[in-house]
Amino acid sequence: MENGEPVIVVEKLNKSFGPNHVLKDFSMEVNSGENLVILGKSGSGKSVLIKCIIKLIDGDSGNINVLGQNIDDLEQDKLDELRAKVGFLFQSNALYDSMTVRENLEFPLRRHWSKEERADKAEAAVIEALEDVGLSHTINMMPAELSGGMRKRIALARTLILRPKVILYDEPTTGLDPITGREISQLMLDVQKKYNATSIVISHDLNCIKMISNRIIMLIDGKNYVSGTFESLHLNTDPKVKEFFD
Ligand SMILES: Nc1ncnc2c1ncn2[C@@H]1O[C@H](COP(=O)(O)OP(=O)(O)OP(=O)(O)O)[C@@H](O)[C@H]1O
Ligand SMILES: [Mg+2]
Repeated sequence: MENGEPVIVVEKLNKSFGPNHVLKDFSMEVNSGENLVILGKSGSGKSVLIKCIIKLIDGDSGNINVLGQNIDDLEQDKLDELRAKVGFLFQSNALYDSMTVRENLEFPLRRHWSKEERADKAEAAVIEALEDVGLSHTINMMPAELSGGMRKRIALARTLILRPKVILYDEPTTGLDPITGREISQLMLDVQKKYNATSIVISHDLNCIKMISNRIIMLIDGKNYVSGTFESLHLNTDPKVKEFFD
């Protein structure tokens, strides 16, 4: 896909949980090669939005197109194929505590690669993914033996192992100290460059946003309220926007 082409298109997405109308005609486009940040208050629907994009949650109405395919039209096997192309870094990392780092990284391969492919390439893929995040030495460790920043890196390595075209990051630096947060942000930039991936990043960490974003969408009142570069939004005088940058 050429840089600049739309990779994800969300049109008038609505999602309610009972009376709680979270997303209200939310629309956006994400273009190939972009690092797009979604900024919004806690509970505004950021995680719900990216879960809708990989169909972990079904929207109530609207359209979502990912890599040229309308996700509502896909049978389960096509949806699985698409999910292999769209990496998701969970807010909670979602590492398996009872598995070693190696086993955690092999896990997505079991689902998406044949036995022959795994015999052939899994070892090299695990090693490269760990090298990408600078944690080769942790291959036989358990998640409990890792720091928060290291767990985040391992979760990123597990996402990278399938060479996703799109990576969705849910608050990648939240809960980390500022230095580790910057290291993770730099790593996201490095990964983006190496694999020419497109990223959607949910974050309210201004340091991270400033470092990585090409563009920011502000999710306010369930809508794509305004979008722009960090610099332009930083100068925006609308009180609803301004409070994020004060
Ligand atoms: N499975 C669910 N069932 C019911 N309500 C849900 C569910 N998932 C999310 N919600 C509600 O949807 C709203 C948006 O949740 P979401 O997790 O997307 O917020 P967020 O913007 O990611 O917040 P945070 O910054 O705290 O992570 C919240 O009011 C939440 O309670
Ligand atoms: Mg969230």
